[in-house]
Amino acid sequence: MNAVELKNIRARFSLRKTYLFNDINLEIPSEKITSIYGPNAVGKTTLLRIIANITRNIKLDKSSFISYNHNGTKPYIAFAPQDYLASLLPWYGIDYNLSLPLKVKGNHSDDEAKDIVIKLKNYFNYKPDTDKVYELSGGQKQMLVLLRCLVVKPDLLILDEPFSALDIYKGYKLRDAFLKYLEDNKITTLIVSHNLEETVYFSDNIVFLKHDNGTTFIESVENIDIPHPRTSINMYNALILEYVKQFKEKYIHD
Ligand SMILES: Nc1ncnc2c1ncn2[C@@H]1O[C@H](COP(=O)(O)OP(=O)(O)OP(=O)(O)O)[C@@H](O)[C@H]1O
Ligand SMILES: [Mg+2]
Repeated sequence: MNAVELKNIRARFSLRKTYLFNDINLEIPSEKITSIYGPNAVGKTTLLRIIANITRNIKLDKSSFISYNHNGTKPYIAFAPQDYLASLLPWYGIDYNLSLPLKVKGNHSDDEAKDIVIKLKNYFNYKPDTDKVYELSGGQKQMLVLLRCLVVKPDLLILDEPFSALDIYKGYKLRDAFLKYLEDNKITTLIVSHNLEETVYFSDNIVFLKHDNGTTFIESVENIDIPHPRTSINMYNALILEYVKQFKEKYIHD
């Protein structure tokens, strides 16, 4: 089953005459991890915004059609944006920031919210030595945004460059914990990453975008046939590296 289906997506920015996307057709399978890969400025973030329905400044033609297969109701979408710093409330505490989705949902008591936040922090061993968001390091802030996406189980999780600020060692541990969490909780996920090894390690499917002649299109969708569970120890194993080699030859054009 597909969680989301895009048909004939034709879109441009409001102040631009040319269309960034002319005819995007894409299926995002339920309970799987799909990645979007492509060079800078190809339109990855813009495509994520269209899927998340954050379409300020974006004009979609009437022919464009997005369906969310969610029993006829609106899915709950969690989004970790590429400019994650802008999505935090720096003058509030860590727990307050983490519990924002629970406040918006409005169906948890303060005690329940506290309990959910504590469990999530323990699961990911998230223990900064301050409670003030403005005192956190860049990586600690990025982790906070990632954890906040999981406080309420999303029907669709969208992550734009989610590990870009983490040091390699912490990044590996967090990737493993994150991937295990997504697998255990069967969360439909869409990720953008610039690291091809990481993309292969995470993904069930990879969507390769290409920009040519002023427009961006899907060059190919590739299936990654590596069994789960996966860990980052395997990130550089022969199977992953073989995919990476093959994709570099096929899709990295410069
Ligand atoms: N608000 C906007 N108004 C006009 N053009 C925009 C706007 N936001 C992005 N663009 C343009 O759309 C194109 C795609 O941008 P987008 O941010 O989607 O790229 P990206 O693939 O996410 O790049 P990166 O890997 O650098 O994050 C770029 O040429 C960019 O300049
Ligand atoms: Mg981007």
